[in-house]
Amino acid sequence: MRNITFSLLLVFTVITGSAQSVHIIPQPVSVKQPRIAARFPVTPSTVLVLEGSNLENSARYLNEYLQQFYLFKLKIVSTTTSKNAIRLNYERLDNELPGAYTMTVDGKGVYIAGDNEEGVFYGIQTLIQLLPVPDARLKMRLAKLNLPYVSIQDAPRFEYRGMHLDAGRHFFPVSFIKKYIDYLALHKLNTFHWHLTEDQGWRIEIKKYPELTQTGAWRNGTILGKYPGTGNDNTRHGGYYTQEEIKEVVQYAKSRYIDVIPEIEMPGHSSAAIAAYPSLSCFPDEPTAFSADRVARKTAEEQKNGRVKIVQETWGVFEDVYCAGKESTFEFLQNVIDEVIPLFPSKYFHIGGDECPKTHWKKCPACQLRMKENNLKDEHELQSYFVQRVEKYLNSRGKTLIGWDEILEGGLAPNAVVMSWRGETGGIEAAKQKHGVIMTPGNPVYFDHSQNKNEDSITIGGYNPIEKVYAWDPVPKELSAEEGKYILGAQANVWTEYMDNPKKVEYMIFPRMAALSEVLWSGQKNKKWELFEKKLAVQLKRYALWR
Ligand code: ACM
Ligand code: ZN
Repeated sequence: MRNITFSLLLVFTVITGSAQSVHIIPQPVSVKQPRIAARFPVTPSTVLVLEGSNLENSARYLNEYLQQFYLFKLKIVSTTTSKNAIRLNYERLDNELPGAYTMTVDGKGVYIAGDNEEGVFYGIQTLIQLLPVPDARLKMRLAKLNLPYVSIQDAPRFEYRGMHLDAGRHFFPVSFIKKYIDYLALHKLNTFHWHLTEDQGWRIEIKKYPELTQTGAWRNGTILGKYPGTGNDNTRHGGYYTQEEIKEVVQYAKSRYIDVIPEIEMPGHSSAAIAAYPSLSCFPDEPTAFSADRVARKTAEEQKNGRVKIVQETWGVFEDVYCAGKESTFEFLQNVIDEVIPLFPSKYFHIGGDECPKTHWKKCPACQLRMKENNLKDEHELQSYFVQRVEKYLNSRGKTLIGWDEILEGGLAPNAVVMSWRGETGGIEAAKQKHGVIMTPGNPVYFDHSQNKNEDSITIGGYNPIEKVYAWDPVPKELSAEEGKYILGAQANVWTEYMDNPKKVEYMIFPRMAALSEVLWSGQKNKKWELFEKKLAVQLKRYALWR
């Protein structure tokens, strides 16, 4: 019924051509516009009224935004009798998840009330989307910032609304990570999954193990073109985030109500750590094996300094993984975890767990002994032992483990949350086992897959057009209503083998991220493709402005 009313209002608007249209992504639960085309102008004399406590953060965000794109700020006050005011406050709103808000623009001014700080912040994001979008190159110094009269009720559908970024295959500077976080905020997403370690680079400072970044953060070249490539660029690539920088990013995200989840990969995807500390491998003296085509190679420098393990220069899955037999592997990982935990207030800690070949474990005496001593029947159970041991450690420090769906193999750790990436099967199985699930199936939410049929840049393959992202429901039909409750939400993954600069990342995430936001915030009930398409035109202008 609500939707019908909304459509009628929209028709009326189109016929009269008078009321300013409202283009909000993700679509709110309810948007009502009066028949008259009235407007509220935001001007330098408009005041921002903080009627509730702890709203300075949202006020600051709005002012920074106005300053950046419209070259003025609003005066912040705690009360006013003026109607030329944007009032921020709290109200009890009826929604299971935090982040609900209500907003009205009318003759009494602008009023935004959230059910908590987050809700007010989302109201501010909606207000930002009501502002006209200035031309990408000319800042809107003299433009009239008219807001249409409108009444909005809004609340999120899922508690976990995420985007991932792989900083391992290619390193991205802090300035871009912050921009990425702002993109999340614009779309009312609340989780940034930061993939910090990979075969091709270790990206987080660990004080106890300086080689992780002195050696592990750098590779001496990268394959040219699409795997297996046409050669090697022989150019050093790398970088890492200092602990101070990580804290800065986490704080930046927090002020946008975004939780940052670190991912420290184990037991696979660990070539960079092994290059730094070869004893982490089952076979420390065996030189790094490259892909069969041997596009990557040991450089003269590496031979000279006697390194047998190097940071990978090509893409793929590698057999040299953390040894599950040696106690020293677990000591190392626990020490790393001890340094990572204080940097990330998130309740979650992602340990990877995907794509771990068992070939070395099958040949390694220490791994085989571990299996024997623990009655593990195969290497999958050894992986399960590995993950459960790390989970116990994380749980004892108040963290919940997240792993890719391979952690189901050999038995799920008791409290683990599963990230389902190889389709939805792993997520369905985990939900049936009453474990929390985050859906990230390759089809349709791997944003490293191309979104155009005739993509002319190199991508990893696959085809995930925006329509497919938009139509997707993260709760599989195979689940009962009760089981469906274990689906906490979803995220899109951005693996960066073929994204070596921020512009390419933006090219891949936009505009699919807008579709994802409606999947996660608006849900099946409030999505409408025809309306979304119209709104997208405005959103594309906003992206151009921000970039
Ligand atoms: C993955 O894409 N290997 C999680
Ligand atoms: Zn081993």
